[in-house]
Amino acid sequence: MLIRQFRGEEFINREKEIGFFLNYFKQNPKRVVWVYGPKSTGKTTLIEYIIENYLLEDKSYNVKYINFRRVLISSFDNFIESILEERDENEIQTELNRNYNIFGLFKLEAKTLRKIKENKKNLFNYLLEEFRKEKKKSIFIIDEIQSLQDIYINGNKKLLNEFLNFCVSLTKETHLSHVLILTSNTIFLSEIYSNAKMKVTSDFKLIDHLGYEEIKTWLISKKDLGFRGEDIELIYEYLGGSVAHIKKLLDFRKEYNSLQEQLEEMVEIAENEIDFFIQTNKLSKEDIDRFKFVSQKIMENGYFDNKKYKGYIDIVSKFTEVEILFYDAIKNITKANSRIYVKAFERIV
Ligand SMILES: Nc1ncnc2c1ncn2[C@@H]1O[C@H](COP(=O)(O)OP(=O)(O)OP(=O)(O)O)[C@@H](O)[C@H]1O
Ligand SMILES: [Mg+2]
Repeated sequence: MLIRQFRGEEFINREKEIGFFLNYFKQNPKRVVWVYGPKSTGKTTLIEYIIENYLLEDKSYNVKYINFRRVLISSFDNFIESILEERDENEIQTELNRNYNIFGLFKLEAKTLRKIKENKKNLFNYLLEEFRKEKKKSIFIIDEIQSLQDIYINGNKKLLNEFLNFCVSLTKETHLSHVLILTSNTIFLSEIYSNAKMKVTSDFKLIDHLGYEEIKTWLISKKDLGFRGEDIELIYEYLGGSVAHIKKLLDFRKEYNSLQEQLEEMVEIAENEIDFFIQTNKLSKEDIDRFKFVSQKIMENGYFDNKKYKGYIDIVSKFTEVEILFYDAIKNITKANSRIYVKAFERIV
């Protein structure tokens, strides 16, 4: 197992996943790949690591990455602006002859941009033609795509549908580009998965929390912290393989006398979060009981089987929206978003 440095932070393992994606990109693009998983498992970090350390130096690909979490999208015009960059060509550009770079790859003239905005030209047809002109294969990566929900193109067509059709064209139909779509919203993903057309034109790749051996090797390597075997077991019992939670524990480790005390406080915060959600949403007694039943099953088996127990999807969805539960539409099971919530369930149920 490797522990590398990435952006001044330790980047643990993910060898298998890196291998999976690099191998995937060697094949001809045929389907859209959806990258999903519980909150903060490192989906964005992993993909950005692969882009910066492998894809950008490999001159056989054109790579374009856009993270919609980093831009605010409230309209179609806004969306277009988010994918445009102004070209710096040292030429005197006026509003009318200004050139842009779209996705940092393709040139877009001001007059074409105007036509697109006025709905006289279809943005995605234009982009498809531009992708077609490229000699190299492209890799197109989109993070937080659910931000495009509820945006309409000039008041009628749904931007998200048009965008997804475009992604299917790039992969299944024309094989011009790989398309990787990341999302942390699994309710959104389950809607995609229930759409027959998207299901057959997509692959789904789960990025889960790390496992015990990875956490153990990582924590042992941090010799200055002096963790003993039983400390590591205790941390894993409370925080599982959630790197984000363990990093938080390490950052504040010195503030607490004992490890147990710190971990118990983290559980209490998770418990309060659940309690706050129940109260602010005024969940009925019946809903609370159904949530407790789901929690009980997760405590017993590690997951709740949505195929076996029908009629729970609404309560699962509610808790998934606020990232307490994680609904895996592809496997049709529900888990806690991370181990700390299972410890909180033990107090609630
Ligand atoms: N393999 C790893 N090793 C060490 N730290 C990691 C690793 N993966 C992620 N992290 C850290 O965990 C945190 C969460 O990562 P990231 O934002 O990539 O997760 P995500 O799955 O994209 O989250 P979201 O569900 O919100 O989109 C970051 O601070 C990141 O540095
Ligand atoms: Mg992310």
